[in-house]
Amino acid sequence: MERKVIEAYKDCDYKLNYHGSRNVQVLKDSLDQIDGETYADIYGQGTLINDFEEKMALMLGKESAVFYPSGTMAQQIALRLWCDEVGSREVAYHPLCHLEIHEQDGIKELHQIHTFLLGEENRLLTIEDIKGLPTSVKVLLIELPQREIGGQVPSFDALVEIRDYCLEKGIRMHLDGARLLEVLPYYQKTAPEITTLFDSVYISLYKGINGVAGAILAGPKDFAVHSKVWKRRYGGDLISLYPYILAADHHYELRKDKFVDYYELCRLMAYRINQCPHMVTEPKIPVSNMCHVHMDMPLEQTAAVLEKVYSETGIGLTPSIMKEDENTSWFAVTTGDALREAPSDVIDRLFDKLKSEMEIV
Ligand SMILES: Cc1ncc(COP(=O)(O)O)c(C=O)c1O
Repeated sequence: MERKVIEAYKDCDYKLNYHGSRNVQVLKDSLDQIDGETYADIYGQGTLINDFEEKMALMLGKESAVFYPSGTMAQQIALRLWCDEVGSREVAYHPLCHLEIHEQDGIKELHQIHTFLLGEENRLLTIEDIKGLPTSVKVLLIELPQREIGGQVPSFDALVEIRDYCLEKGIRMHLDGARLLEVLPYYQKTAPEITTLFDSVYISLYKGINGVAGAILAGPKDFAVHSKVWKRRYGGDLISLYPYILAADHHYELRKDKFVDYYELCRLMAYRINQCPHMVTEPKIPVSNMCHVHMDMPLEQTAAVLEKVYSETGIGLTPSIMKEDENTSWFAVTTGDALREAPSDVIDRLFDKLKSEMEIV
């Protein structure tokens, strides 16, 4: 049944998820702009990579930035460096952060770092959780927004309180800002106003920006220099990374001013979703361009309704739905160019149908 939803979504005239299909046009568009005589980057050196790193350092308000092929690599290295600096092998983070659940324990297996899980899976970590840590723990990772709980974030004041406490206790703070740009409109802050609360920060270059792949790790100059040693050890210094860098730069320029729109569209979607029976968003009012939708019906039933809605309207909300337990299911909504560029009556048509189908379930 879930396969049928994926197929029905693929056949839709309007696929509203994120920035549309991930196809190679992303790279083609970026290369079209570039003079073929431009020199490639070689093992992390050259104008092409170094200029982009400088631009990202400036944008993030940090002294230096380093381009990485992946966020997974960048963050394991960042945490290892902070552990070296404080002289321990202990890191604290949320139980559902990317390192804990999506990286096959890379941080533990490769660096013998012991991790402390802060708070509970279904809520954000708090200052009280941090105060409860053993005093030996001097490295903390915070993910903004917290993807696995629908992209929630602490208030800015809560972040400041955490920062003040960590400064007092000598705890280094790293920001998993994979989707940092996506939460700036909610905070009504610039990137540096947020990143100044952290010693280092990582952002993704393929999520909201929609590049091919890649990550930026930014922080103090020494930190960046040392991180490059580890990048080499990880095999992350591909001889040339320019396809990723060119795509990241091109798509960053295209989208950097659109994050406000993505955020507002997500709030609109959540409002409409919460008016449909059986559907509740988490958070109720999104703080980024993403939210989760919890359905009080089993996966098969959710799939049947969505497939019907997609095939009868030609409008698709999301291709993937997940089982929560025997009686409930969920899916993520992520807003981007696909929705921003859709004709204005599309959302009305989708929700008229969705609501009427949900009313008869
Ligand atoms: C919050 C978060 N952190 C880190 C990563 C890792 O990024 P990458 O896929 O570039 O390794 C992801 C990727 O999904 C993520 O969502």
